[in-house]
Amino acid sequence: MAACAFRRSIASQLSKVLDLPPESLIKSISAVPVSKKRCVADFQLSIASITEDSSSSCLSQDLNLQAQKLAERLKCDAVVSEISAGPGTVNFTINRELLAKTVLQQVLKEGSEYGVKSELFSAVPKQKAVIEYSSPNIAKKFHIGHLRSTIVGNFIANLKVALGHEVIRINYLGDWGMQFGLLGVGFQRFGDKEKLKSSPLQHLFEVYVQINKAAEDENIKELAKDFFRKLEGHDEQALSLWKQFRDFSIEEYIRIYKRLGVRFDEYSGESLYQEKSQEVLKMLEDKGLLQKTMQGTGVVDLSDKKDLSSFSTVMRSDGTSLYITRDLAAAIDRMNKHQCDTMIYVTDKSQSSHFEHLFQILKLMGYDWAERCQHVSFGLVQGMKTRRGEVVFLEDVLDEVRARVLQNMASAKTTKQVEDPMDTAEKVGLSALIIQDFRGLLSSDYQFSWDRALQSRGDTGVFLQYTHARLCRYDEVLYRSSQDLQPKHIVSYLLTLSHLAAVAHRTLPVKGSAPELAQARLCLFQAARSVLASGMKLLGITPVTQM
Ligand code: ARG
Repeated sequence: MAACAFRRSIASQLSKVLDLPPESLIKSISAVPVSKKRCVADFQLSIASITEDSSSSCLSQDLNLQAQKLAERLKCDAVVSEISAGPGTVNFTINRELLAKTVLQQVLKEGSEYGVKSELFSAVPKQKAVIEYSSPNIAKKFHIGHLRSTIVGNFIANLKVALGHEVIRINYLGDWGMQFGLLGVGFQRFGDKEKLKSSPLQHLFEVYVQINKAAEDENIKELAKDFFRKLEGHDEQALSLWKQFRDFSIEEYIRIYKRLGVRFDEYSGESLYQEKSQEVLKMLEDKGLLQKTMQGTGVVDLSDKKDLSSFSTVMRSDGTSLYITRDLAAAIDRMNKHQCDTMIYVTDKSQSSHFEHLFQILKLMGYDWAERCQHVSFGLVQGMKTRRGEVVFLEDVLDEVRARVLQNMASAKTTKQVEDPMDTAEKVGLSALIIQDFRGLLSSDYQFSWDRALQSRGDTGVFLQYTHARLCRYDEVLYRSSQDLQPKHIVSYLLTLSHLAAVAHRTLPVKGSAPELAQARLCLFQAARSVLASGMKLLGITPVTQM
């Protein structure tokens, strides 16, 4: 690994001077972020991270002095061409020629493996992760939050797989609850079998909207309750209709996810856990964790003082389960089935306290693995509208962005004859959506803008000589994303790389150069393209070859 070889080389010299094992030093050597404005070193050692008492007793002045002293004791060699002291750091500049050569060779040799085999990951044990994402509700809107969950979950799963972990991708559908009572009654009145087959998501949504209006009438409400009661009692007819709703919907979801390049290993859902939720309630009761309230509901006390200052309701007064009860059952079931090391749930932040409660209750039940469950939350996306108005279906968003890109392609003079414009527009459009979404921290809300997402030019003006230096830091970028599961590190890296490649493209022509030079330049572009492609694939973007 290119960056690794440099880090190792620096560590080995340091280890002699400091009399510390080189392995312990490698982690303290990090790449220096590239600056557009000034020349910076390639790597730096943070003094604070190697001194034993880096606590408050170490003043920054001390650290600066130590850095200075250490820098003086180190020598340049075949690898390091410059050593200097900065504020609390020792900075290393790598021999430019060696850097360019090593990095290019590495990227070309390792291809899509580049970066992921870094020693940064060698201490990280290979794990099995269950990742739950997308999880829309049948017959309800597929809102932008579900789209965000879909692309974020897909990214996390891709990243984990690339780093050698085992991943199970689960879609946990909202396929149970009172809404299916209404939907059952609604379908009997307004439903159409043909439409259910040909466009289930649209049709079920329409039926749901209609019956919801009608449900102001108490009779309808009663009928819906009856229908749901039948479902819970396993009435064959009711179940068979419900199953059609579910099966047809899943078929259509699969088709649309395919457009996104997203797939799942399992289509799970709340419906699978009605019985198991009853077992969970029983377990809670046996463990003395279930308390009955005056209203007859069942709650679990989550407060430290056991004074119910914080609690979670897990049972309705009629003994039936709630969203969280089904989640408890689902979590236990997943763990039994997959024996995984971690479970990750991807939803918007409005569900944060739901997941906190979920993990707390699991812990109280004695499941230590609850500590290895994680809720990856994201902020709200405001103002996403399509020509049809408010977003109701995922497909509307995909169609809209594809149409807009097609239009841009048609009006752009630079666009070449593209073989399959629809397909290209789809991929380009999707990457516009993903990058807009992934640029900031996932927890931030953002204002959606078609124009901003689809801009063809970003800021330019990055210098060519940083290209190779930039490239060798890819593993650190992956490492950062793998630590906090935020895609933005990879996104900004790829964007910078693109700017650099654009500058290189203008200033380093391949055509018309001497063969050897042309060859070297081709290597550079090939390497850049390879890293770009790997990074984009992690994010869930399919690279196109024409546009
Ligand atoms: N279907 C839910 C919703 O749309 C999201 C499910 C999240 N996952 C979970 N295990 N609760 O709000």
